[in-house]
Amino acid sequence: MSKRILITGGAGFIGSNLAIGLKEKYPAHDIIAFDNLKRRGSELNISRLLQHQIIFLHGDIRCKEDFEQIGHIDSLIDASAEPSVLKGIGKETEYLINTNLFGTVNCLYFADKHTANFIFLSTSRIYPIKMLNNLEFSEAENRFELVDKQITKGASKKGVDEHFPLDGSRSFYGTTKLAAELLVNEYSELLGLKTVINRCGVIAGPWQMGKIDQGIVALWVAKHFWKQPLSYIGYGGKGKQVRDILHVQDLFNLVDYQLHNMDKINGEIFNIGGGLQTTVSLKELTQHCEEISGNKIKIDKVAETRVADLRIYYSDNEKAKRVMNWEPTFSVKNIVADTFHWIKENHTSLENILK
Ligand SMILES: NC(=O)c1ccc[n+]([C@@H]2O[C@H](COP(=O)([O-])OP(=O)(O)OC[C@H]3O[C@@H](n4cnc5c(N)ncnc54)[C@H](O)[C@@H]3O)[C@@H](O)[C@H]2O)c1
Repeated sequence: MSKRILITGGAGFIGSNLAIGLKEKYPAHDIIAFDNLKRRGSELNISRLLQHQIIFLHGDIRCKEDFEQIGHIDSLIDASAEPSVLKGIGKETEYLINTNLFGTVNCLYFADKHTANFIFLSTSRIYPIKMLNNLEFSEAENRFELVDKQITKGASKKGVDEHFPLDGSRSFYGTTKLAAELLVNEYSELLGLKTVINRCGVIAGPWQMGKIDQGIVALWVAKHFWKQPLSYIGYGGKGKQVRDILHVQDLFNLVDYQLHNMDKINGEIFNIGGGLQTTVSLKELTQHCEEISGNKIKIDKVAETRVADLRIYYSDNEKAKRVMNWEPTFSVKNIVADTFHWIKENHTSLENILK
């Protein structure tokens, strides 16, 4: 049976990749990408979406009336956000709060009106900054590492799981996402909406319009491609901060499963990321980029740590594996290579945005 699936933020990095993946796999479905094109570079995705017979609607999730053009839907994937942790620190909180919180509320209203399944792309940034930075760690030559024995619940060498405490500041980005999560939970428990929340770590891959404050892998690869300088910022400027990275194709596999198994996962929250296997420090990311591009660039060292910086974060994927039999398949090397080839093939159109 054909379905209508709405992806808010559908012209963004994740939204456009999910939209195209779904249309390729389920040609009979109507896939609607709804986006206000706030993110620089999202406009490049419109021709990709149209080539794949995806319906593109220009609209803003902050504006309830903009949803009226959409019509009936069976599922809503919320991938629209101001996704930068640094936004809202100091100033510029208004757009972020209005989109990430009030806009998500509008998405919930709309899903509820159509009794549509609701898949929310949340973030690992809902976990508090100080609590993460207080985890026990050791320092190796190229990276920081979590030690296995941790006092804090929900943390181990395997990463951070869904039991990690929630007390403390987490940035405006993380807070708006957590506040939205709480509302998603209420829609699920009290109004019977079928929902799932994915607390994603760093997602990477082609069509990510990486910039200094969001999209680290694309940024790092692009700067190596165009031979431009970068900086290691914080923690002594040694580039030893660690994250796990997940290919957007692996995220697609997850969302595809969820769309088709909502009864099984209704009301659940998952930490989603590449996990320990795909952890990489900035220094190691530089090595991967040098290898694939053949270029060595100047990298400055800024010792001072910024307020929302994290020394180490990676997801413990155990729950996602146990409940959904889902596992990441791309290695760090493959993710970097895929991103590099995408930039190489599209460098003329990407130059204005990524360079
Ligand atoms: N990329 C990651 O590493 C990552 C990690 C964790 C969570 N997430 C979450 O995944 C989702 C998608 O992120 P992404 O990486 O694709 O970001 P992105 O910036 O590439 O895509 C977001 C899209 O939303 C659109 N948008 C912004 N404000 C809007 C509004 N008011 N109305 C309609 N559209 C609006 C933007 O134009 C953009 O196309 C976000 O919710 C983000 O918080 C992303």
